[in-house]
Order: sequence, then C-alpha cells, then structure tokens
Amino acid sequence: MNIKNFLLVCFLSVVASANAQQSSDAKMNSFIDNLMRRMTLQEKIGQLNLPSVGFDVTGPVLSQGVEDKIKKGLVGGVFNTYTPEAVRKLQQMAVTQTRMKIPLLFGYDVIHGHRTIFPINLGLAATWDPVLVEKTARAAAEEASADGLNWVYSPMVDITRDPRWGRVSEGSGEDPFLGSVMAKAMVNGYQLNDLSKDNTVMACVKHFALYGAAEAGRDYNTVDMSKVRMYNEYLPPYKAAVDAGVGSVMTSFNTIDGVPASGNKWLLTDLLRNQWGFKGLVVSDYTSINEMVNHGMGDNKKVAELALNAGMDMDMVGEEFLNYAEQLVNEGKVPEKTIDDECRKILEAKYKLGLFSNPFLYVNEERNKKEIMSQDKLNLSKQAAIESMVLLKNKDHVLPLDRSSRIAFIGPLVKDQRDLIGSWSGAGDYTKAISIWSAIEQAGYKNVLYAKGCNLVDDPDLIKQLNPHGAMLIPDSLSPQQLIDQAVRTAYQSDVVVAVLGEPFGMSGEAASVTDIRLLENQRNLLEALKKTGKPIVLVLMNGRPLDLSWEDANLDGILETWYAGTMAGPAITDVLYGNANPSGKITMSFPVNVGQVPVYYNHLPTGRPYKADQKYTTRYLDAPNDPLYPFGYGLSYTNYNYSSVALSSNTLNTGGSITASVNVTNTGDRAGTETVQLYMRQMVGSISRPVKELIGFQQVALAPGETKKVSFKVTDDDLKFYNSNLQYNYEPGDFKLFIGTNSRDVKEADFVAR
Ligand code: NOJ
Repeated sequence: MNIKNFLLVCFLSVVASANAQQSSDAKMNSFIDNLMRRMTLQEKIGQLNLPSVGFDVTGPVLSQGVEDKIKKGLVGGVFNTYTPEAVRKLQQMAVTQTRMKIPLLFGYDVIHGHRTIFPINLGLAATWDPVLVEKTARAAAEEASADGLNWVYSPMVDITRDPRWGRVSEGSGEDPFLGSVMAKAMVNGYQLNDLSKDNTVMACVKHFALYGAAEAGRDYNTVDMSKVRMYNEYLPPYKAAVDAGVGSVMTSFNTIDGVPASGNKWLLTDLLRNQWGFKGLVVSDYTSINEMVNHGMGDNKKVAELALNAGMDMDMVGEEFLNYAEQLVNEGKVPEKTIDDECRKILEAKYKLGLFSNPFLYVNEERNKKEIMSQDKLNLSKQAAIESMVLLKNKDHVLPLDRSSRIAFIGPLVKDQRDLIGSWSGAGDYTKAISIWSAIEQAGYKNVLYAKGCNLVDDPDLIKQLNPHGAMLIPDSLSPQQLIDQAVRTAYQSDVVVAVLGEPFGMSGEAASVTDIRLLENQRNLLEALKKTGKPIVLVLMNGRPLDLSWEDANLDGILETWYAGTMAGPAITDVLYGNANPSGKITMSFPVNVGQVPVYYNHLPTGRPYKADQKYTTRYLDAPNDPLYPFGYGLSYTNYNYSSVALSSNTLNTGGSITASVNVTNTGDRAGTETVQLYMRQMVGSISRPVKELIGFQQVALAPGETKKVSFKVTDDDLKFYNSNLQYNYEPGDFKLFIGTNSRDVKEADFVAR
C-alpha cells in the first residue's frame, strides 16, 4: 500500500469509529430520553442517591431503610456490598419491585486490589512500572466484577507532599508526571475502554481536587493554593484520568478558593465539564455535601442547592438531595433541567455498563469462583510486591542475606498477617496473606531464629484509637523490657539481625494523620538495644508514608522499604532478602530528614537566595539540611549502575521538532538488575519562576552483569509546556537543562535551547 492509500485507510477507519460512536451515543440518548420521559421528578432525584449498605462479620447486612428506599425508586446505586448473592438480591429488588425497574450501580472501595491485595498505591507507584500497575487494576476489576461490583472508587491521584497525611499511602506521591502516568494506567486497567464487558468496571478518579494539599497534613483540613500551582502541579493527574476516559469523578472534602469542592461550580462545571470535556458522572465523597454546613456554607437545604447547581450528580450517603431537591426545584432555586442532566449522567453510566441490557451482568457465580484469588492474580501480587520494594540502605552488602549465616528475625511484624494488606483492603482477607515467617518456613530457609522484640504499639491511647477500626493490637503478656531482653538474647545467637518493624496499618489511610513520622518509641527502643549487640542489622519496614529514618540510616546496615506489600508480602519480602529477586523500586515521595522539613519535594521553585553552606542569609535551617534524607526517585539495587554523560542529538529544539537525549547505562556489579532511568528538565528563565527540576520521562532497562544499554528519550516542545500566570498552556523559548540519572538528585546534565 502506498502512503496515500495508507493515510486514506487510516482516515476512513477514524471516521468509521467516530460514526459508530455517534450512532451508539444516539441509541443511548434515545433510550434514556424515552426512559426519562416516563420518570417522575422524585424518581429522577432517587437516581442521585447513593446510600451505603453495611457489613457484619458473616457478610453484608442491608439496613431496612435502604431496602424500602430501593423499592420506592429512591436509590440510584449502593456501595459497600458485594458477592453475587448479596448483589443479586438488591438488583432483583430494583428491577422487579420498582415502578421504573432501573438497575442499581454497585460501588466499592477497590483501591489496591479487591480480594487479592496488591501493595498499597504508594508502593505500586514505587515500581515505576505502569504496565504492571495497569495489570493490577485489571486483576482487581476481574475480581470486583465477578463479585457483583460495577464501580470502583479508584484511582486516588491526589498529589502528596506531606507525609503527616495518612492518605499519602493511597496515591502515587509527589510528582504530577508520574502521577498522571499511573492514573492513566489504572483507568485503563479497570475500564479497558469498554464498560459494557462483564469483566470491566467503571473507575472513579478522586478526590477532585487538591485533597493532598491539606494544611499541616491534617486530614479534612483547609487547602489553599495559587491557580498556577494548581494547574501545573496538582491538577494534571485528575486530567490524565479524564483524558483516559474515566467514567466518574469523586469530589474531595476540602475547599478550593474558599468553596468546598462538593459545591464548587468553578471546579465541577467550568473546569471539569467545560474546559476538560468530562462526560461521566460526578459523585460526592461520603457526606461531603452535608459537611458543607460545617464549612459554613449554609444549612442543609442550602448546601444541597449549592451542590446541585455546581454540577454534582450523586450524593454519597448524605441524602441531602433526597431531602431537598424536589423542594428546591419547586421553589425555583434549582432548575428542573439541572436534575434532568444529573439523572442522565447516572443513567448513562448504567447504560454504558450494560446494566439495562442485563442488570445481572456482574452477578455470575461461576466467574466468581474462577476469578477470585486465582493463581495468576497471586503471582501478579507477588511480582508487584517485589517490584514495589525500595532498598534504602545496604552498607557493605549486608543484603542479600548469606544463607549460611544465622539470621535472627526480630519484630512484631515477622509473623503478622493483618498489617500486610494495609488499609483500604476492605474485601481482602488478611488470613490469606502470607507472613514473612510462613514464607521462611515454606521455602525451608534454615538457620533462622525469631523473637517478637516489642509490641507493634505500646501506647494505650493509640491502641484505643486504632483497635475499633480493625487493628488487633493486644499487648504481649511479657513486659516491654522482657520482650527487648529476649530479642537481645536472640540477636546474640545470630550473625545478622533482620528487624521487621513499622506502622500498624491503621496509621495510614483516612483519618490517620500524625505529627511524628519516626518509628514508634517502643520500636526505636528495641532498635537501640539491638544496635548495642554490635550485630549487623537490617531493618525491614512496613508503613504507608515516608518516615523520618535519620537515626536508622545513621545506625543500621540495611533498610528495605516494603510498604504494606499485600497478600503475597511474605514470599516477596523473603525473595528479596535472600537474593532470589533484586530490588528495583524507587520512592515517589521524598523521605525527609525530620518532620520539620515538611513539605520537602524535589520539584520546588528556586528561591532568590539559594542555599550556600557558608552564608547565613540564604534559604536554610539552622538545625537541618534543606535536602531530604532520600530524594524522590531514589532506590538502590544489589548491583550498581554507571551512567555515561548525556548526549544530545542537537542543542536546539525547534517548534514542532524534537531532540533525543541518550545515556549509556552499565550494570557494573555481578547481578542482573532493572534500573529506572529518569529524565528531568529545567527551564532556566521563564515568565514565572520554574521548578529546579521536573520529571518528564523515565524508562526501565534490564541489565545483565557487565551489560551496557543505551537509553534514549525523545524530547519535544510538548514536554516543555506549562501554565503561565494567565493559565495559558505553552512553552517559552529559551535555555533549558536536561538531567538524566538514577534519582532526582544524582544526575548528569546537558543544555539545549528551545526556539
Ligand atoms: C471516604 C473516602 O474519602 C473515599 O476515598 C472513599 O471512596 C469513600 N469514603 C467511600 O468509602
């Protein structure tokens, strides 16, 4: 085929698919028009209602109130219930006992896996492997859809720079570029670009918007930032999800320019719908409409009005719409057309999910048996866990462990299962998670000793706060000192100590902010006692946020960050410890020297008084460095990589053109490994001050010992674009630097000019 014919074929196929889309949209519109013509105002408002259905230990329990409302056509969807049996019962009710017979949506917090649990999202991001992350979302969708669900409240894409905030565990960290890549991967994994399949689910990007910037890292707190920062740094991942076709958007709890997101017309209509062209449905967060009363926006009726007029389609749990929407329409405060538009969004979602053709599409016992915790998903969980781990320190090659030495595994998390699956693992069964100790036994590793060393938490007040939310923190019958003494005795019998410590899972996730990001005091006491034995110590961490590891970095030999690694945590961690796998994860949030540095992130602006060691009046602390302990993108390997200098194909980048930046990366060690090569840029002069570094690309390269590979990045003017102070998106000609390296700090650079 010659080029002309080829282009013609391409053009015709684009036209054909646009036509097919138009005709399927037309079919959907006429179906919904027809349906809505027959609906009362109250039934339309019913579609906007999303109650939660609770659980007890033996499974989901439906509150009587919700059943009654379903039968009256006052519910559009429910969440927090799953299993084919439970879903069938409610769906049956909706499609047989209501006047309009409209099926329900079934939503759930599927965050890092459904039944098979993958590492927490901060860990998944640390893989820097969007293909793998997409696979985890795909696996989660397969399980969720086989469990009656058609809607998942994921991905969470809030940019996070404050490790005090418990919810940093749920997102991809501090970088908008990486966050956007992961957002897209997850949406694709859940939706496969076709919601009508029985194994896809509608994704829900959250929390729109800026929730990650809660002041002081305190959950639900105020957010306030400039539009320039918002557009350049915080909004890109939400936009990436919208561009990837995400079916729904969940609003955040915080204010934006003084107006809570759930009632913010600029956010939900001007930006999301008009500027970004979002066509799906917008759902509130849990009672976030009602909470606008506490924000000082008016009474319950007023906040319902604000939300409806802002463009909120669905009211999660709060029932403000149910209570006030009809009255507001009758009083002329909310146009009926607004309710129609909002109801239409929900019906469209149901249509696209195939629920009008088959309300029981996702209720399939056979698929349920086949999909849930299938071996391929467990294998994927283990692979994701391995790839998520970050080796933070490895003095004198203390890792991998020498199998001929005696190893003391010490710590309350060695035999733990509950914490492995982390927070937001609602349908995950922790009893199926494999602990480190079980993995050691299963693999038959010899010469291992064990001591608990300390309670996971000693502080009674913290125990009191965490236990009601599913933690099982029961102080040991031995006193803290007895536990330490026992551990020290065990350490003396060993050649190397592996201390497995961290945060109980409940210290991450929602409503889990802290002001001290060090390990808990009792765990620090244990480490100090172990240190006195003089034995080499490897710290294996389980936690959901960057911690202050200054003491540990200065005093211990090895540190392996394993996050909450999921169902297959034990086998994955032991594979890494014993060298069956070589760690390759890299952190996606900076680990500060101490909490006082927060927020500390790599892509900050330059100041007018850059730091100079010997000058007082420069930007600095008197008691700490400016740089974090471990920078964004940092992570070691059991091997070493050498980077050549950066070669550019040209020093000039013309409009619409591109240049190629290349480095040779060599594995200089004696083990095979995978390196994530990172590309950053800096615009030297701009109409607004520009970040000292910005990630614009990355690639993973697998290298055998001694092997060298050339890694090349194409850089176009698109990569240089940003929002200026008029919020125009473009690049500005001038001088630029490119940096390539193993993390955001250790880089090689080259200069070019953009014309
Ligand atoms: C509140 C959380 O903020 C949100 O992330 C979650 O999806 C909803 N509750 C539903 O559980």
